[in-house]
Amino acid sequence: MKFFIDTADLDEIRAANDLGILDGVTTNPSLVAKIVQEPDNFSYEDFKNHIAKICQIVNGPVSAEVTTLTAEEMVVQGEELAAIDENVVVKCPLTLEGLKAMHHLSGNGIRINATLVFSPTQAILAAKAGASYVSPFVGRLDDISTEGMALVDQIVGIYENYRFTTEVLVASIRHPQHVVEAAMIGADVATIPFKVISQLVKHPLTDTGLKRFMDDAAVIKNG
Ligand code: E4P
Repeated sequence: MKFFIDTADLDEIRAANDLGILDGVTTNPSLVAKIVQEPDNFSYEDFKNHIAKICQIVNGPVSAEVTTLTAEEMVVQGEELAAIDENVVVKCPLTLEGLKAMHHLSGNGIRINATLVFSPTQAILAAKAGASYVSPFVGRLDDISTEGMALVDQIVGIYENYRFTTEVLVASIRHPQHVVEAAMIGADVATIPFKVISQLVKHPLTDTGLKRFMDDAAVIKNG
């Protein structure tokens, strides 16, 4: 199972990368907006430079999302984003216009992450449009009392039926149990916020056990 970090924050990306468990990064416009210090002066060039900085830190796929709505505009933007670095994956929304853009961009060898996916039909369309990744948003489904992980299970099953090679990237993860369930279902990737990555390591018995070992280690004299 691959772990991506779901953030545009360079410090968080460096910290997760240092752990040696990071396979890639996902960003979206909202995550980028969070790290912008001067919103009035943040240009599209600044956005592309920021994605380039992320690519310098992590040796793996980095998803950068288009910020336009028509297929034509998404194609232009997707080509520009893909030109930043060979590891950039272009994120397109699962709309009719997004599908057209995905089909065009993937046909030209640009890797696509189909985003804002909330149904199995959308996931089938993403695979047929040649997306490299499909991103079901589990947390946002849970938020409206619909079991997000049931969608992941459906997509994994459907993709197995037809041997679709699109990787299932579980997005909108809110807590460690989402990661566990995604792994049990056999999803290819989980994109995880830094806070949840930190929670994955935690266990109270590890903390109390370590304290006891450190206390008992006092009998071992240095040198
Ligand atoms: C990542 O690709 C998604 O954009 C992200 O996981 C969405 O997360 P959210 O629902 O917490 O905003």
